[in-house]
Amino acid sequence: MNVLGIESSCDETAASVVDASGVRSDVIHTQAIHGEYGGVVPELAARAHTEKIVAVVRAALDRAGIERPDAVAATAGPGLIGAVLVGLSCAKALASAWEVPFVAVNHLEGHMLSPLLEEPPPPWPYLALVVSGGHTTLYLCEGLGQTRILAETVDDAAGEAFDKVARMMNLGYPGGPVIDRLAGQGNPEAVDFPRPRMKSGLDFSFSGLKTAVRQHLQRPNRASDADVAASFQRAVVDCLADRLVRAAALTGVQHAAIAGGVAANSELRARVQTLGLNVTLPPRSRCTDNASMIANAGRMRLLAGQRDTLDTRARPSWPVAE
Ligand code: KG4
Ligand code: ZN
Repeated sequence: MNVLGIESSCDETAASVVDASGVRSDVIHTQAIHGEYGGVVPELAARAHTEKIVAVVRAALDRAGIERPDAVAATAGPGLIGAVLVGLSCAKALASAWEVPFVAVNHLEGHMLSPLLEEPPPPWPYLALVVSGGHTTLYLCEGLGQTRILAETVDDAAGEAFDKVARMMNLGYPGGPVIDRLAGQGNPEAVDFPRPRMKSGLDFSFSGLKTAVRQHLQRPNRASDADVAASFQRAVVDCLADRLVRAAALTGVQHAAIAGGVAANSELRARVQTLGLNVTLPPRSRCTDNASMIANAGRMRLLAGQRDTLDTRARPSWPVAE
């Protein structure tokens, strides 16, 4: 069964076809318009999705060499409501016109299951660290729809911290890739930023770290931008790696995968391979938002018998597990 997946929850308009052999096509258009505002502007994102969605879907079908898929999957949340609605409405319209099944996909489940597209895929159960602009969550994935949240951020998401720190340093948006590059030229031990740990155990917190960076930047004798970037990135990666190791010890699960935009970070990618765990590392293009993860999760749900009706609503905050 081949499935067309559509993703439009934030600032990527994406479409992909996935079948039993894997990813047949993967088309992603990243909206450039938000750079000048320092963050994603919801209304502009929705309009830009409307302009691109048809061309992106057509390209995904063309590259996969098919005219009509066996089913259509789309992100129904969580995300920016106006943005989600564009991809979701498009998917429902196509499923209706083609008379093929439709399935609604949770964007976070998409990220969490995306490592299963790699060869070899991680076996169940595996730990999935989903680190993006809106979410920082450590899941225990025991099977499709069998997900336990082991840890979450109590304030900022990791990607949000990258974006806010980059903004403080006037480095542009999105901040993650710029800080990643700049950090490569700096000394990660130049500034001893805090590595917050919550009393609750595995949870994350990045707001104190962000404040520490702001305070440091106001000092007259502050470190260079590259040193600040490297020291900040080291602190984030230390926190993420620490929780992954603790979660493995706590659950006895030795397979882990990382996903979400921050999983594209060079230092995080290198570090997770030194933790003594079996780690699945999706390519960078499948860490940041993409539609192959939506087609994959949708396909898995369809194979498990799920179908959704065409009156399925967008859910801006849709918990993937309680
Ligand atoms: O998963 P994603 O594409 O969208 C959301 O669902 O949020 O993640 C976007 C986030 C942004 O905050 C961006 O700054 C961050 O991922 N990011 C990175 C890197 N590439 C993207 N953070 C650190 N290092 C990177 N190389
Ligand atoms: Zn995402």
